[in-house]
Amino acid sequence: MSASDKTPRLPGQLPVRTIPGSYGWPVWGPFVDRLDYFWFEGADTFFRKRMDKNKSSVFRTNIPPAFPFFTSINPNIIAVLDVKSFSHLFDMELVEKKDVLAGDYMPSTSLTGDIRTCIYLDTTEPRHAQLKNYILDILKRSRRTWIPSLTANLDTMWNSIDSDISKSKSGDTAFDVPLKKFLFSFLARALTGADSSKSPEISEKGYSWLERWLLIQLVPTIKLGLCQPFEEIFLHSFVYPSFLVTGGYDKVAEFVKKEGSEVLNRGTTEFGLSAQDSLHNLMYVLGFNAFGGLLAFLPTILKILGNDKTGLQEKLAKEVRDTCKADSLSFDSVTQLDLVNSFVFEALRLNPPVPLQFARARKDFTLSSHDSGFEVKKGEVLCGYQPLVMRDGNVFDEPEKFVADRFTKDKGTELLSYVFWSNGSQTGSPSADNKQCPAKDYVPVTAALFVAHLFQRYDSITLDSSGSKITALEKAKHA
Ligand code: HEM
Repeated sequence: MSASDKTPRLPGQLPVRTIPGSYGWPVWGPFVDRLDYFWFEGADTFFRKRMDKNKSSVFRTNIPPAFPFFTSINPNIIAVLDVKSFSHLFDMELVEKKDVLAGDYMPSTSLTGDIRTCIYLDTTEPRHAQLKNYILDILKRSRRTWIPSLTANLDTMWNSIDSDISKSKSGDTAFDVPLKKFLFSFLARALTGADSSKSPEISEKGYSWLERWLLIQLVPTIKLGLCQPFEEIFLHSFVYPSFLVTGGYDKVAEFVKKEGSEVLNRGTTEFGLSAQDSLHNLMYVLGFNAFGGLLAFLPTILKILGNDKTGLQEKLAKEVRDTCKADSLSFDSVTQLDLVNSFVFEALRLNPPVPLQFARARKDFTLSSHDSGFEVKKGEVLCGYQPLVMRDGNVFDEPEKFVADRFTKDKGTELLSYVFWSNGSQTGSPSADNKQCPAKDYVPVTAALFVAHLFQRYDSITLDSSGSKITALEKAKHA
């Protein structure tokens, strides 16, 4: 990607190039890109092919949802696919984050009590600071209940999986339902203070109501892998009405209102929020951010472990058993698990649970990749596809390879500043002034605790290649 001598340069800086790529013919260009993205190529190949074709990690393309029925959505984006260009998404002087979580598409606010939740607010909107501080406070106060709630619900989950395996003729079992029930009751308790076992209906169905509510928001933007053209025609062409899922959402909200009143009252008394704002933001944090995020990530952890043939499980189990005594998992003990923590960050690097990040240029500015500058105009939408950004060979050695101990030792700690799953650097601090995930530290710690708890209980776990079934689970001999 060398620029010719005639290319204009900023003083002492990189050569400035025109952003390559195009949006194609109106209507037809976005439609073809949509089919490539969802059907013929998939997101990974879609971005890789265009990066190769344009010989640039920064280029113009379209991203679904698009034509024919999403006519009011502008699918034009500037892709930013290396660590340096992607980092502009965190610079709140340069970019705006108003209603841009999923690009120009935004799910109806009727799904969230007619409220724009924190994630859709720009840092210049005063409600963002109120809500972000409220959510950071919820996490800080949940420190006392986080680990007891996590381990108690994990015990319930693994007991249920053990029992399913012992009853199964084939000796294997799918784990998705126990995992979802675990996540729902753990997070409801840790984040809202609500004990889901107080309501048999919520305890049994709460997770599936939230899952459907999540799905209806995301479906126009994600590939489900169902039969084509069925998926394109019925799932990616229009938005399903909110009333299909608000019944279940309202029941969970009623439950949180009753059982989580202490947390909700703090929103109104200490952070100046209205009762509705506290409630629907707490629901969003519970159902979308926390339940949705961990539901995307924990199965990845199990899949990597359950398909590993390199002896990684023994190494992790040894570290856990040498470092943490049985039943003594804590925030402090987990920080000492160097390999477990590194394994979690490597899983987050290669499989960022929220793969796409968007932002809108607040003003005209020059965006830089490793080798070029590009003029971006105010209002243009930047889109980073993290799975490729996190494979940037300028930063990570053997970028495509899963290296479990990559983040150990001094070099590893330095590399953490380039881990971006939280919409910010892993060495940054989420605050009211930025859009970094407030659970930047809670998510990796929770995943590390999940792994530690697993190896306190089992010697090994095996999954099928799809990662959806546990095919063998060997109890710890020392237990
Ligand atoms: C694996 C789990 C999680 C992942 C992958 C994740 C990822 C993210 C990402 C990528 C963003 C930025 C989105 C954007 O602006 O483009 C974000 C924001 C946010 N996350 Fe998380 N998150 C997770 C868990 C949680 C948890 C447990 C909470 C609970 C407190 C949480 C609360 C939030 C909130 C409130 C925001 C909006 C921040 C703001 O507006 O400034 N997330 N998260």
